[in-house]
Amino acid sequence: MRRSTLAQDRIHVESFSKQRSFPTFTHSYSKCCCHCFPLALITFLALLQIGTLIQALKINPALSFSRVFPTSWPSFPHQAHNIIYSLAKTKLHEPVAFFPLIDRRFAKTAMDGNTWFMSSLNDTYEEGETEFLHFPSKESDGRLLCLAGSNPSNGTRNSYALAPPEALPRNAKVLSGLTFVSDTYYDYDNLWHGLSAAAVPFASWHRRKECARPARLVLYHRGELRTRMGPWVATLMKAVFGQEMAIERFEKSEEGPSCFEEAVVFRHNEGSMARERREKVYDMMRCKARAYCGISTDVGGLNAVRLTLLLRRGARSFKDEPAVIRTFGRQCMEVDACQLKVARPNNLTFCDQVKLLSETDILASPHGAQLTNMFFMDKNSSLMEFFPKGWQELAGVGQHVFRWIANYSGMKHQGAWNDPQGDHCPHDDGRRCFSFYKNRQLGYDEAFFANWTARVLNEVKEYKAFKRDAQTQLTQSSCQCS
Ligand SMILES: *[C@@H]1O[C@H](CO)[C@@H](O)[C@H](O)[C@H]1NC(C)=O
Ligand SMILES: *[C@@H]1O[C@H](CO)[C@@H](O)[C@H](O)[C@H]1NC(C)=O
Ligand SMILES: *[C@@H]1O[C@H](CO)[C@@H](O)[C@H](O)[C@H]1NC(C)=O
Ligand SMILES: *[C@@H]1O[C@H](CO)[C@@H](O)[C@H](O)[C@H]1NC(C)=O
Ligand SMILES: *[C@@H]1O[C@H](CO)[C@@H](O)[C@H](O)[C@H]1NC(C)=O
Ligand SMILES: *[C@@H]1O[C@H](CO)[C@@H](O)[C@H](O)[C@H]1NC(C)=O
Repeated sequence: MRRSTLAQDRIHVESFSKQRSFPTFTHSYSKCCCHCFPLALITFLALLQIGTLIQALKINPALSFSRVFPTSWPSFPHQAHNIIYSLAKTKLHEPVAFFPLIDRRFAKTAMDGNTWFMSSLNDTYEEGETEFLHFPSKESDGRLLCLAGSNPSNGTRNSYALAPPEALPRNAKVLSGLTFVSDTYYDYDNLWHGLSAAAVPFASWHRRKECARPARLVLYHRGELRTRMGPWVATLMKAVFGQEMAIERFEKSEEGPSCFEEAVVFRHNEGSMARERREKVYDMMRCKARAYCGISTDVGGLNAVRLTLLLRRGARSFKDEPAVIRTFGRQCMEVDACQLKVARPNNLTFCDQVKLLSETDILASPHGAQLTNMFFMDKNSSLMEFFPKGWQELAGVGQHVFRWIANYSGMKHQGAWNDPQGDHCPHDDGRRCFSFYKNRQLGYDEAFFANWTARVLNEVKEYKAFKRDAQTQLTQSSCQCS
């Protein structure tokens, strides 16, 4: 069975080095656009079509890009094949203009407003939901989304266009059914990044649109095509949609662009989703993941208080694991029916993780991507988080990501321990110091851990007793969209 390798979380590196790690170079569009189609084909088509082009421009001087794109664009070679596409049909339709998927003029504000991805298009909002673009729709004047976008390493070399169904670009292939398109600034491997960029927005659409299932996914990272997701993210999607998700590779992209019968584009991750909506999406994902893994919801055992210590290897692991385990073990022994499990995420499959967390009331773990699994716990379960020195002062708001997930998925974040000890940072610069501290090992504070664990254990014990008395044990109803 495939192991889900927990990508060491890059959340924080990325969010703190956004500007730095992403060179904002300006470039001219005057270079050859050699990627999309063989030059020979372009030349041939150009020769074939040039007469028509001149005629078309004479008949309809409004054949320009300014209607769709109010800003004036520098001339760039995409236009050569744009025009060729549009004149493929003899009817004088709106020209199909292809534009770079990524607009580097917005590199400094890549995630703001219309973002730098399909930047000419405005988002559509539905109350409480993340922003999206839907094609065809009223907002797109009934046009379909077309992509000439198979480049895996340069988002400027991928392009998009909107085309009326009756005047698609030359050689365009129409891909039937619903397509989910996503662009993320981060990645699809890390649990939290994949959840936020793909699983949550896709699952939310599924939930509210009559359980619509996509025929395929088109995944971009800064406009560069991606053809895989991390195994944890892929399995979660499979559990949610009840089928393996096909990820588009645009294998025959040299033959022409692909247009989509129906496409929804997400470029803001979870974006403006309201908390209650997210909570419903997490409820559905929890339910479906448990069903997929064949976990009975009766695992709850209202009589037990189940504490899980999820240890990391390497970065942000405890220096003295046996001491930490002993402390948790001692506190657990003080509480009736307390059960302590010690686990390491590295060796757990997706379903092992779902099962472990389904059987956990209190998750204690160092800050890291493995904590994303928290939403598989029953609602109102608890979380205890540990940070190495330096995070509190230098990590910015990103350090609170698991408080946010706890909040959205209905868990209780029971606070964090910030290691006060650690090597002294030899640099002056905060960023360099953060890198210096980020993945250090964690120390240990016997008194603090004991006191904190005792408090949380007692709170959870009371909560479970209350639930037991109130007989509020959830009777398993089927998941939404099952
Ligand atoms: C996007 O919204 C802006 C401001 O509301 C508007 O001026 C512009 O025309 C819209 N663009 C498109 C393509 O609808
Ligand atoms: C990406 O492609 C554009 C347009 O072809 C080119 O100008 C730019 O230099 C390329 N960027 C990189 C990093 O290769
Ligand atoms: C993880 O699994 C591998 C092989 O299955 C084993 O050799 C290793 O000891 C395991 N590690 C832990 C921490 O359990
Ligand atoms: C979680 O706790 C809150 C407040 O303590 C309670 O209102 C809610 O019903 C609980 N939810 C579940 C699923 O038990
Ligand atoms: C989540 O956070 C909001 C705003 O801080 C707060 O009002 C709400 O009670 C929190 N919900 C949960 C379940 O923790
Ligand atoms: C635990 O901490 C609380 C407040 O932080 C304190 O009042 C209490 O005495 C401590 N308990 C123990 C057993 O140290």
